[in-house]
Amino acid sequence: MKNIIKKTEIYVMSTLGKEPTGHDWWHADRVRKLALHIAKHEPSANLQIVELASLLHDIADWKFHNDNEEIGPETARFWLKSLKNVPEPIIIAICDIIKNISFKGATVHHATLTLEGQIVQDADRLDAIGAIGIARAFAFGGNKGHEIYNPGEEPIFHNSFTEYKLRRASSINHFHEKLLLLKDRMNTQTGLDIAKARHQYMLNFLQEFDAEWNSRF
Ligand code: ADP
Ligand code: NI
Repeated sequence: MKNIIKKTEIYVMSTLGKEPTGHDWWHADRVRKLALHIAKHEPSANLQIVELASLLHDIADWKFHNDNEEIGPETARFWLKSLKNVPEPIIIAICDIIKNISFKGATVHHATLTLEGQIVQDADRLDAIGAIGIARAFAFGGNKGHEIYNPGEEPIFHNSFTEYKLRRASSINHFHEKLLLLKDRMNTQTGLDIAKARHQYMLNFLQEFDAEWNSRF
């Protein structure tokens, strides 16, 4: 088991490396740590599934592969199979999590997740909010050529994944379309407790941003 994790760490590190939009090795590592922390309070969770799914969850993100939503789970399956000694039910559980944890739009129906999936989704979402979430949003937006802010633009609460995917809104807008919605969608109590503090930190940031933008000195 230790060996499987170690090999997977090296694989994720070499694949994601210094990816510049906040989906790098360090994101995978933070999500793994957050997920294992949450799992401590969920005694029936399978830690092997939680840790491997966390490490592999962004191994090939649809956002960077021509919107192919199957590429992530397929890449993870290929890797886990190559290790030879990971049982098929564990592979299925991990790939299912990778397929289903992504945010798909404010009012889009999201798949029902296993306990392990709920834990990894909470961890992934916690890394999208708070100080690190702020940094990642602007790194992502800059990399995609989005504006920092556009006062004329209203948030859209998407009811279709296709529209959400095509959206090229400013990074500040992304806070309203996704990041500020995550606190109320946490699956676990441990995740919610952490999310509350990170959510407040983002609200403070947005208030200060607005004051500076509108010359309130
Ligand atoms: P998910 O699995 O929900 O897609 P990820 O772990 O892949 O989440 O990370 C998504 C993160 O990438 C967001 O939380 C945000 O920081 C950034 N991001 C995604 N879309 C945008 C966008 N349109 N503008 C700014 N940041 C974005
Ligand atoms: Ni992620």
